[in-house]
Amino acid sequence: MPTNAAPISLITGASRGIGFAIARALGGTGHRVVLVARDAARLDQAAHLLRSEGIQASACAVNLREPNAAELVLASARKAFGEPTVLINNAGTAPSAKAESTSDAMLDETLDLHVRAPLRLIRAVLPGMKQLRSGTIIQLASTAGLRGFPFTLAYTAAKHAMVGLSRALHLEVGNRGIRVFAVCPGFVDTDITREAAAQVAARGKTTADAVFAAMAAQNRIGRMHQPFEVGAAIVQLLKTQPSGCVYELDRNPPAFVDEEQSP
Ligand SMILES: NC(=O)c1ccc[n+]([C@@H]2O[C@H](COP(=O)([O-])OP(=O)(O)OC[C@H]3O[C@@H](n4cnc5c(N)ncnc54)[C@H](OP(=O)(O)O)[C@@H]3O)[C@@H](O)[C@H]2O)c1
Repeated sequence: MPTNAAPISLITGASRGIGFAIARALGGTGHRVVLVARDAARLDQAAHLLRSEGIQASACAVNLREPNAAELVLASARKAFGEPTVLINNAGTAPSAKAESTSDAMLDETLDLHVRAPLRLIRAVLPGMKQLRSGTIIQLASTAGLRGFPFTLAYTAAKHAMVGLSRALHLEVGNRGIRVFAVCPGFVDTDITREAAAQVAARGKTTADAVFAAMAAQNRIGRMHQPFEVGAAIVQLLKTQPSGCVYELDRNPPAFVDEEQSP
């Protein structure tokens, strides 16, 4: 692929929420985007909407927890546009439970989607990126990958694992032209957050709106992040940062979390 060709971005969990916003933001800067999620109808709608905005978008409906998902996604990307030059591991769910109710199954499912599935996709795209000596791999982690949050043992553990995976990969491939980031927003106004607020409200003597407001207040920036802000931040990272790794959005201004080791 000539180096000046439009980037090809593979974005998981792109049918709605943060993933869709990232696809729209990258598409707006000329990326060709491959959207991945399970619900085919909703995914097709998302791709159709982006195409109506002039973005080259294709859809690959797959459950990322299936063992052959990474191969299917890569084949779909190659068929639509070619070898991916950007991978955004964004698909996620956010189960909430007390420690005693955090089952093995909940932990397995969460680690599977947030860690195993991203690793499989990383394995799938790395050979192409290494050959090009160019590429970007982003994990959509969370401030729950940097700090603890109550009633989210499985999620917080998985997000910490995502951050660790990103740090290790950054050190392994960063000097081969491949940038690796873990992007960490606080609470973002999406389905995940609204469903979590409804679940908490259903368990207690409060309303979903009150829980939602309390979540927003936990963000250091003092309000909910909006999905488009995450998309804009990723566009900015791609444009301005020559190297990874852990980038916290819940700061004003957003910043790398610490002195990152050079690859
Ligand atoms: N919202 C927040 O406050 C927040 C904060 C920090 C980090 N994050 C992280 O940001 C990411 C996106 O979250 P969001 O808030 O945008 O969530 P969302 O609106 O619920 O969207 C989740 C996306 O992931 C897809 N997905 C879920 N399970 C999947 C699977 N097994 N295989 C393929 N696709 C799957 C969903 O589509 P289908 O259901 O059709 O599969 C959907 O497109 C997650 O990793 C989340 O942990 C969110």
